[in-house]
Amino acid sequence: MSVSPVVPHHIAIVMDGNGRWAKRRFLPRLAGHKQGVDSLRRCVRACAERGVGVLTVFAFSSENWNRPADEVSGLMELLALALGREVPQLKKDGVRLYFVGERAGLSQKVRDGLVQAETATAENTRLVLNVCFNYGGRWDIAQAAASLAARGEPITEASLHGAMGMSHVPDPDLVIRTGGEMRISNFLLWQSAYAEFVFSDRLWPDFDESALDEAIAAFGSRERRFGKTSEQILPAHPDPMPG
Ligand code: IPE
Ligand code: IPE
Ligand code: MG
Repeated sequence: MSVSPVVPHHIAIVMDGNGRWAKRRFLPRLAGHKQGVDSLRRCVRACAERGVGVLTVFAFSSENWNRPADEVSGLMELLALALGREVPQLKKDGVRLYFVGERAGLSQKVRDGLVQAETATAENTRLVLNVCFNYGGRWDIAQAAASLAARGEPITEASLHGAMGMSHVPDPDLVIRTGGEMRISNFLLWQSAYAEFVFSDRLWPDFDESALDEAIAAFGSRERRFGKTSEQILPAHPDPMPG
C-alpha cells in the first residue's frame, strides 16, 4: 500500500529558465516565455489535483525591467494575452487569481486585465493562484512600512504582515526554484522565513508533474523545527517497557 505524500498547503515557485530553454533550441527568448505559460497551466492543474491550497509564482521581478526593451514589452503582451486565454478555464477549474506587485508602472491595459481576472475568479475556492508580477520582496516590505507610517500605525510583525501583498494567504511551506540557480532573487523575502527550499535543475518549461512530485517528496522528508528541538517535534512515543 502506498503512503500518500505530505502535501504542502502553500507552494511558491521561482519559474526560472525560460530563456535558456529557448536558447538551446535556437529560438527567441520570448518563445521560452510562451512555453513557460504552458508549463504554468500544467502546474496549476497538478497542484489542484494534489490538494495544494495556494500556489504563488514569480512571473516578473522589480529587477526584470533591466532586460532588453523588446523582451520586457514581449512579457507585458504575453501577460495580457495569457489572461485573455486562460481566465475562462481557470474560472471553471475553481482557481482564484490574485496579482501581487506594484501596479504603478504597468500599462492601463495590463492593469485592467489584472482587475478583470481577479474579479472573474473572486468566487473560486479550490486553489488560490498568486501571480507575483512587478514584484520584489524589498518593495513589498518597504511599501507595507510606508503605508503603516502614513496611517500613523505602529510597525510590528503582525501589522507589517497585514500590510503586505500576501496578507491573504499563510506563508509558503515550500519554495521551489527551477533553472538550477540557488538564490532567492528578491522573491518572498519576508514570507519565506520558515519555508523549505527545493532547487531543481529543470528549466521552467520542462518542470512537469514528476518534477513537482519530486519536490513534494523532498518536502515530505524534511523535519520542520521552527526553532524547536527534534524531540519537541516528534510525537511522543508510548513507553516501550511499561511497568
Ligand atoms: C524566468 O526565465 C522568467 C522571467 C524572469 C520573466 P528567464 O527569462 O530568467 O530564463 P533564463 O534564466 O534566462 O534561462
Ligand atoms: C527571477 O529570475 C525572477 C523570475 C523568475 C520572475 P531571474 O532570472 O530574473 O533571476 P536572476 O537575475 O537570475 O537572479
Ligand atoms: Mg533567469
